[in-house]
Amino acid sequence: MHDDGDRWNARYLGRSTGDPSMPKGLGGIALRRGGRCLDVACGLGEQSLWAAQQGYEVIALDASDVAITALNGAALLAGVRDRIDTRVVDLDAGFPTEWASSCALVICQRFRDPDLYEQLVYMLEPGGVLVITVLSQVGLDGEPGPFHAAAGDLVCAFRQYDVEVLRSVELDGEATLVARRR
Ligand SMILES: C[S@@+](CC[C@H](N)C(=O)[O-])C[C@H]1O[C@@H](n2cnc3c(N)ncnc32)[C@H](O)[C@@H]1O
Repeated sequence: MHDDGDRWNARYLGRSTGDPSMPKGLGGIALRRGGRCLDVACGLGEQSLWAAQQGYEVIALDASDVAITALNGAALLAGVRDRIDTRVVDLDAGFPTEWASSCALVICQRFRDPDLYEQLVYMLEPGGVLVITVLSQVGLDGEPGPFHAAAGDLVCAFRQYDVEVLRSVELDGEATLVARRR
């Protein structure tokens, strides 16, 4: 953990959370408002702020305590601190299971760990929606790195789970999938 946490702490040092931001790809998707939202690898937490403002009870997880501290401050300023439960968590050490099958919305933006895909689905309540964005080789300007998913990777991976794929977009070096748990 200390590797990921320390590395990202260095990148986040001195930065603050930006404006609330709807996760990429969710526009026009019918969502159940309210209930629990899990923001996995939330970073500075712009999507967590957005979800809290939409009325979700948010759990925001990240390995970087610097990012989590920034999010705590931003949530306070935005008047939604009581709706965001922040946790410093190393997902490499295991995915917390306490919110299993209870989330109306799971957000995972720009964090790719295929070993966690099944757990992301498992966090959703029936009818809950997952929105995941990863780096992709599609439309990439330059050479792909180890974190860039191959074309079709997300759809292929999530097809094996009990979800309906609502949207899949791959362009400009990013792939986004929106899926609803049956
Ligand atoms: C590219 S940032 C994305 C942040 C945010 N989701 C966004 O879209 O703005 C990747 C995030 O993953 C977090 N991360 C990396 N490895 C992690 C791990 N093992 N456990 C938890 N979080 C991790 C980093 O701290 C960082 O905030």
